[in-house]
Amino acid sequence: MNPSGRERRLSPRFGVRVPCFISLPLEEESILFPRARLDAYTRDVSESGLGIAVSSIYIGYDCIVARLKLSGMMHMLVLGIESSCDETAAAIVRDGREILSSVISSQIETHKLFGGVVPELASREHLDKIVPVVEEAFTRAGVALEEIDGIAVTQGPGLVGSLLVGISYAKAMAYALDKPLVGVNHIEGHVYSVVFENPPIVYPAFALVVSGGHTNLFLIPAPGKYKVLARTRDDAAGEAFDKVAKMLGLGYPGGPIIERLAREGDPRAVRFSVPRMGDGRPDFSFSGLKTAVSKHVRETGLQAVATGEEPSRAVRDLAASFQDVVVRSLVGTTERLAQEHRPRTLIVAGGVACNGALREASSEAGGRLGIPVYFPSRHLSTDNAAMIAAAGTVKLQAGERAGLDLNADVSLRLQNLDVEDDALRRSKVRYRL
Ligand code: KG4
Ligand code: ZN
Repeated sequence: MNPSGRERRLSPRFGVRVPCFISLPLEEESILFPRARLDAYTRDVSESGLGIAVSSIYIGYDCIVARLKLSGMMHMLVLGIESSCDETAAAIVRDGREILSSVISSQIETHKLFGGVVPELASREHLDKIVPVVEEAFTRAGVALEEIDGIAVTQGPGLVGSLLVGISYAKAMAYALDKPLVGVNHIEGHVYSVVFENPPIVYPAFALVVSGGHTNLFLIPAPGKYKVLARTRDDAAGEAFDKVAKMLGLGYPGGPIIERLAREGDPRAVRFSVPRMGDGRPDFSFSGLKTAVSKHVRETGLQAVATGEEPSRAVRDLAASFQDVVVRSLVGTTERLAQEHRPRTLIVAGGVACNGALREASSEAGGRLGIPVYFPSRHLSTDNAAMIAAAGTVKLQAGERAGLDLNADVSLRLQNLDVEDDALRRSKVRYRL
């Protein structure tokens, strides 16, 4: 194999599954399909790693004549770029499954002083870091600029100024190198963060995506199809960790600090109940919990931890009790809905998926449900560009392309099945993303 990993050979699996195609030239061909076979064929080809595009189609009464364009590229190198919040990241990924490089420049030190992300500072730092981060990704992968087959960039959701830095850079690069470009939903990126270190996802799957900006439970009946089953009505789970940590004087980001203190605290010390929706929907809500913590702090006269001071027993107990109710809420809802929908894989991803208690409780739930639970490793749980490249590879292989008018979409949603917007609007239910 040459360094770029291009190899023009059809996989044996592909040959076995679609034998009539083994002798096809890797260019346009007209094929007569029984109607029902086109979908299956297209799926087989895209799973084989070959690019396929239907360039023209004739639909007859009981057959379809499709003119297909096969790119014949078994190996695809994709540059991923992520800049939606406070991490500037670039990665080079082969075939959507193998990380050749993944570079992340975190802005935690900048935002720590303010106890949260300051959007204006975030955009400025992305501007400073984007060039060296992308260059470093190419250097570490040992890949030359012109060897990549496409560019995938986070389109949204996120902070507009931050997103625009990555998008503008990706568009300029795609134009200069004449490479295909796709925009990726950041949340879909988190779903794809599990593909590198786990066996292939078996569908239908469930994905619980929990981070500082989002808390969603998706039903994924097939690749690329998303139905939101539950989501937060107010704060995201990671945001609740960050706000409670700030309240207790513990620093930013709050998740890892609360987890560390919780290990030495008693989760039964403070009784918080799992928030439930009055309208019976299986949604999450963490803002009431934050208020309950603040009430507990006020009523017990608990002092915030001063810089350099050792957190008290009461603070550790509060951290453990708070973490416990968040985990019970996330896993309890996931398990209940899984009993109803019977997924075959459970994916738990996003920054909060770093949390050991959440991992343990999810694995136990997976055991009771009899399904495997896939987590990304820590490096891939928080924001990174490898997950964006992986999600983008699937889109590029399916022939999706973004134009140079690609723009940031700060409230980009991830749901393309049974979208209930009108019904929700009528019932006046309000959601964050
Ligand atoms: O995915 P991510 O890097 O950024 C967003 O897309 O939001 O997630 C960051 C969030 C932060 O809120 C952080 O507190 C939380 O993930 N987090 C954790 C842990 N590590 C990071 N939450 C709970 N326990 C952890 N160990
Ligand atoms: Zn994220």
